Amino acid sequence: MKRVSLTQYLVEEQRLNNSIPAELRLLIEVVARACKTISHAVGKGALGEVLGSAGSENVQGEVQKKLDILSNEILLEANEWGGHLAAMASEEMETIHQIPNRYPKGEYMLLFDPLDGSSNIDVNVSIGTIFSVLKAPEGMGSPTEQDFMQPGSKQVAAGYAVYGPQTVLVLTTGNGVNCFTLDREMGSWVLTQRDMQIPADTKEFAINASNTRHWYPPVTRYVEEMLAGSTGPRGKDFNMRWIASMVADVHRILNRGGIFMYPADAREPDKAGKLRLMYEANPMSFIVEQAGGAATDGKQRMLDIQPSTLHQRVPVFLGSRNEVERVTQYHQA
Ligand code: AHG
Ligand code: MN
Ligand code: MN
Repeated sequence: MKRVSLTQYLVEEQRLNNSIPAELRLLIEVVARACKTISHAVGKGALGEVLGSAGSENVQGEVQKKLDILSNEILLEANEWGGHLAAMASEEMETIHQIPNRYPKGEYMLLFDPLDGSSNIDVNVSIGTIFSVLKAPEGMGSPTEQDFMQPGSKQVAAGYAVYGPQTVLVLTTGNGVNCFTLDREMGSWVLTQRDMQIPADTKEFAINASNTRHWYPPVTRYVEEMLAGSTGPRGKDFNMRWIASMVADVHRILNRGGIFMYPADAREPDKAGKLRLMYEANPMSFIVEQAGGAATDGKQRMLDIQPSTLHQRVPVFLGSRNEVERVTQYHQA
């Protein structure tokens, strides 16, 4: 079979569909290269002295792992000098990161969760990187945080990498979803799945069931009905998976369907769930919609939400369309 590299895929997309401007192509290649570097560090594990805690906390009060910080630095350094970005934002940085004055500035803004699934780093379970690309408002010198406050529907590209048994990169530029596998010997990304599609129906769900007692009624009802199996109202048996790395859970759903949920709950009523809108929920929702699935916060389409702060949290329901529609309906009842 003829191998198509990420570079070749991007060039052909640019030429045939005119869907990827040259600067965006550069951006995606640079992010992919950074993910390759992160993948290498992840793969070294204890040998690379990359495991364990860094002894610091991020703005959200979460303990930072060494790999959280390292991955953040890798992405920042890779993306600073190319001239394709106006600014960056990350889970691991309180405010936005300006491009230093010594470099030219471009028209895009990049947001990322440099290392998703941090609790899995030290136990050798799949982790990943999530990224989202927005356009900077025109004629802007240095963007402000306010310039990042665009709904997810404005994303021009989004993707994630999974550092697992295989390292893969899943990408959308608004023209379907494609998956690339890292050829570790050659050091290149090879197109391995074209136009990924999420089945509309599923028998698999993902939620952290240890929080059951804190859930609100719509989620309790939805999960109870699935648990009731073939003799319950759904008339079929469901299976459950929870990896605690959103990238790995979403990657399974892209491959064989399912619904992923991280609802808001009564633990901390002021917190709208755990996951962050700008660099977790939005890029994943863009990818899921592009693969024929759906994504909501339980009430409305995720990509329509107008953000108000960089690190805001949001309830997440995404995956197989009919299931996401059902649980969203339960929230309206
Ligand atoms: P991060 O490591 O970037 O902070 O994100 C972890 C997220 C997500 O990947 C996962 O689905 C979820 O946290 C797991 O949360 P629980 O530990 O509450 O199950
Ligand atoms: Mn994350
Ligand atoms: Mn993270």
